[in-house]
Amino acid sequence: MVACRACGTPVEKFMSFGRQPIANRFLEPGGTQSEYFFEMEVGTCPKCTLFQLIEQPDPGMMFHDTYAFFSQTSKGMQAHFEGFATYVKDTFLKGDDPFVVEIGSNDGIMLRHFLAAGIRHLGVEPSSNVADAARQAGIDTISVFFGVDTAAAIAEERGLADAIFAANVICHIPDIAGVARGVARLLKPTGVFVFEDPYLGDVLEKTSYDQIYDEHVFLFSALSVRNAFAPHGLELIDCIPQPTHGGSMRYVLGRQGQHPVSERVSERVAWEEARGLGRAETFQEFARACERSRDALVSLLKELKESGKTVVGYAATSKSTTVLNYCGIGPDLISYISDTTPIKQGRLSPGMHIPVRPYADFLADKPDYAVLFAWNHRNEIMAKEEGYMQRGGKWIRFVPDVGIE
Ligand code: SAH
Ligand code: TMP
Ligand code: ZN
Repeated sequence: MVACRACGTPVEKFMSFGRQPIANRFLEPGGTQSEYFFEMEVGTCPKCTLFQLIEQPDPGMMFHDTYAFFSQTSKGMQAHFEGFATYVKDTFLKGDDPFVVEIGSNDGIMLRHFLAAGIRHLGVEPSSNVADAARQAGIDTISVFFGVDTAAAIAEERGLADAIFAANVICHIPDIAGVARGVARLLKPTGVFVFEDPYLGDVLEKTSYDQIYDEHVFLFSALSVRNAFAPHGLELIDCIPQPTHGGSMRYVLGRQGQHPVSERVSERVAWEEARGLGRAETFQEFARACERSRDALVSLLKELKESGKTVVGYAATSKSTTVLNYCGIGPDLISYISDTTPIKQGRLSPGMHIPVRPYADFLADKPDYAVLFAWNHRNEIMAKEEGYMQRGGKWIRFVPDVGIE
């Protein structure tokens, strides 16, 4: 039995994605012997509805000085974070000399807009290589994990924050109660905590099970966020859907009673209740949908191989680790994965050991088919790859269903 990380109730396990490696740990050729694996099972809390991994590797194994994910590799995400920064500035930073803190600020994709506007800021980013990239751009960043102690130290040294924000990281932090207590410690009485993460509702609608991997210990909903933060005096005051990462939600919280609560909160919670986001049957149906998706993708790749087609992967995303390992897809079915991130190139994909090669190889090789692992960046990629499609190159998609386009 595993206790819910938010409320302590026994979690109901509903499926396993099998043996999974560290999703962002790309291996040196020859360095695959000592690879770490864990059994990736998922469940939900029958009381607070929080969707969570049963077991998660130790954070130090995932976030360190060679973390492979640099936020600014995607142009689409650069534009998104400019919009997120503008939203925070225009909506919440009305007082004099505001101070903002970002949790998981990575290479500074969001904080650079606060630096440019001359706003006092601090990034909390434990992966020191990506944090260094931010520091080099002049962004004030400390390399520690956010929690109660970090929050107290920041409050003492720099004062309370007008806004604390985070993107694609609160769902990474297993001690959600520690995050809530840290935020409650660091926030001004009228301050806000704004964070966004992949949304459980989208994952269920699209069978985008690839959002589940070691780093993502939680998939949130408005219901589960409201329940997880309320015991710490933090109230959900708004929730705004976002198109990023294949469907995310931006949650806005303030101290209880300090802000008007948007109608969007009750509307969203009502939708989630009607959709069964807290019910066991919903998750059993999701498990069956994942199995169907896996079987369809594997059959398609086997057929293409038998007919002599060349198939590669497009973008060695962390999400692709779940798909490849759950489906058992190795270099026999996908000869390599093309990726633009230099530190992934020349390495092997986690678990299934498919070679990762520079993007230039994809352009030169002209494969018949490419599996669109970065499906969340679809628009950006389709615009960039007109040449590939014009000469007959095809995409294999697996979200929301398996198919060729
Ligand atoms: N916000 C960026 C980066 C997301 S990746 C974006 O949306 O693109 C998640 C980041 O959170 C990583 O850089 C990781 O090192 C960092 N992180 C992980 N655990 C953390 C914690 N406890 N406190 C602060 N940052 C953390
Ligand atoms: P993610 O943001 O979904 O995690 O994916 C990021 C990875 O995808 C990163 O390794 C860079 C890679 N990528 C490409 O190789 N080509 C592209 O056009 C895009 C948008 C991403
Ligand atoms: Zn719970």
